[in-house]
Amino acid sequence: MIPTAQAFGIDIGGSGIKGAPVDLINGKFATERTRIPTPEESTPEAVAVIIKQLLDHYDVEDGTPIGITFPAPVKPGKPLDFIANLDQSWIGIDISFMISQFVGRRVFVLNDADAAGLAEAQYGAAAQHDGLVLVTTLGTGIGSALIVNGQLVPNTELGHLILKGKDAEKYASSAARVRDGLTWKKWGKRLTKYYRLLEHYFNPDLFVIGGGVSKHSDKFFPYIDIDTPIVSAGLHNDAGIIGAAYYANQCMKKEH
Ligand code: BGC
Repeated sequence: MIPTAQAFGIDIGGSGIKGAPVDLINGKFATERTRIPTPEESTPEAVAVIIKQLLDHYDVEDGTPIGITFPAPVKPGKPLDFIANLDQSWIGIDISFMISQFVGRRVFVLNDADAAGLAEAQYGAAAQHDGLVLVTTLGTGIGSALIVNGQLVPNTELGHLILKGKDAEKYASSAARVRDGLTWKKWGKRLTKYYRLLEHYFNPDLFVIGGGVSKHSDKFFPYIDIDTPIVSAGLHNDAGIIGAAYYANQCMKKEH
């Protein structure tokens, strides 16, 4: 039984698919989350099977808002035209429609970093923050969410800015740190280049850094040498699930 102040959030990532019921009043998981590894072949069908498993596992009631994050730009009602870190067979698919059909209930899909941005603006490090807040998530890729006076500007894909001749996420993501065996200091130097580029083009008032690695911000923040204030995400890696649940609830409210 899911109380009315709850919605369900699912976060589709490059390595895991995670879900939990979310208490929308305080922006926290209502019960513990469940994580299922992302299938090696992360095709639409393989991922949809896991989403169904998560909904069944929590016995999510009909009528509960269900939000899902996706690691690519998501334009409601339109087919996907770009994806970096999941199977290319997603291209051409209207994700919300496809997953809704598969699981037999309505779901609302949005970009993963946008979900994190919404959650941070509502419940986390960007709450009550006026001006321009740039939320970036450091994980398999780099996601971005642009928040202007509390409002999200969706689908900014700033992980794909060109840095050192390649996609910035290939050079500065958390996965790039692991792949290249970088010390926190060396990674911090790469991040300095990335955040200086963002500073130059966007002049934000605040950077919020999310993704799993944001738990260890004390290890690498000292090496990021920029002028803009920078803080760790208040909700860390939970922001995706919480933002997805919040978004689904907002979408359903607009329809009524
Ligand atoms: C994708 C973004 C996503 C980010 C983080 C990038 O490769 O293009 O849409 O937000 O990874 O998952």
